[in-house]
Amino acid sequence: MADHELLPERSSTAADREAFQRLHGIAGNSLEMNEIVGVIMQVAPTDITVLITGESGTGKEILAKAIHEASPRAHLPMVTVNCGAIPEGIIESELFGHEKGAFTGASDSRKGYFELADGGTIFLDEIGELPLGTQVKFLRVLENGEFMRVGSGAPRTVNVRVVAATNKDLDYEVRLKHFRPDLYYRLRSVDIHLPPLRERREDIPLLFHKFASEFCERNNIPFAGISDDAMRVLVNYHWPGNIRELKNTVESMLVLEARKQIEAETLHRYLRDYQTGPVDRNLPATLGRTSEQAERELIYRALVDLKSDIIEIKNFLVNHSPSTQFPQYEVTEAADVSGMEENLSLDEMEKRLIIEALEKHRGNRRLAAKALRISERTLYRKIKEYGIGNRE
Ligand SMILES: Nc1ncnc2c1ncn2[C@@H]1O[C@H](COP(=O)(O)OP(=O)(O)OP(=O)(O)O)[C@@H](O)[C@H]1O
Ligand SMILES: [Mg+2]
Repeated sequence: MADHELLPERSSTAADREAFQRLHGIAGNSLEMNEIVGVIMQVAPTDITVLITGESGTGKEILAKAIHEASPRAHLPMVTVNCGAIPEGIIESELFGHEKGAFTGASDSRKGYFELADGGTIFLDEIGELPLGTQVKFLRVLENGEFMRVGSGAPRTVNVRVVAATNKDLDYEVRLKHFRPDLYYRLRSVDIHLPPLRERREDIPLLFHKFASEFCERNNIPFAGISDDAMRVLVNYHWPGNIRELKNTVESMLVLEARKQIEAETLHRYLRDYQTGPVDRNLPATLGRTSEQAERELIYRALVDLKSDIIEIKNFLVNHSPSTQFPQYEVTEAADVSGMEENLSLDEMEKRLIIEALEKHRGNRRLAAKALRISERTLYRKIKEYGIGNRE
């Protein structure tokens, strides 16, 4: 799995990029997308490790697929692993496999994802969630393709191309000591950053028409068009859920507004934070919920974000200050860091936010974790921590 230090010299023309985008279903003609597609076309035929970063819903997985499909490995499968969804205790055996008797319940030996991906590509999604202890083993596979199954001392080798993705700021995670710097430097041989949709608004009409025409064709729905005003609203909206949100919005509108042209006034029913006008300071009215519920959710979310920011800042200070200034302990969410009362009420709010998210997604933890913008593993931990009933 040697990386190529130098990529082959090749600059793509607009026509090349267009053909590539059509083939892989990637829409977008902004400067940012053109540049990204150019890089993807260059790196795809090589074995080089690629790190794709960007907010949730910006298209990391669609790019990973395009890299694999445009590579000489395309005839073999791309194995996708969501590092955030695998409990910490079994992540190594899932990735590297295990031998019979390696742990209680290991009645047979089993291949891990790296072995299953041999000859092909492994897509490690949410790489920022990889536990520190596993990171060093992963680094070894990246460097020379070597790994050991759990319960075995015999090294094995695989020939796997690695594409990793994260919506975390790994630079920051390194500073917090959550992510190994050597792994980070190794991973970002090629670092592709997907900007949020609000920073490449010129792609919105293209994406809209692509999603609308595909959905209508698939479902035999006539598309009555969209007014210029409505398109302006879509282009100006901030799309917190990025392209995934745009796609879902287009599809719900087409079902519920079938046969009608989409007008600007219709959009407030579909856009989470749609403002009806500059003087209307009402809080967001969300689909199917009262504005009071939406407001509460916003406040909870702000508090939860604030709390985790405080914890991260405190950890950073603890880890980066002379020992005389700060006691050498890791601040955890359970630790009393900012006064009992404040901490308790934030915990209570966090718990309620989790319960609401689980209820909203009918107990589906994957969707609830996504809505809360935390990993599934963190959600499992918090469910346990707060003793939230079994809602699966
Ligand atoms: N440029 C694009 N052209 C067409 N469709 C796109 C594009 N980018 C994203 N999509 C579509 O938007 C949806 C979300 O994309 P994707 O799953 O790749 O995002 P992601 O960055 O991996 O999100 P997450 O971080 O939440 O996993 C998918 O349905 C995908 O096909
Ligand atoms: Mg993804």
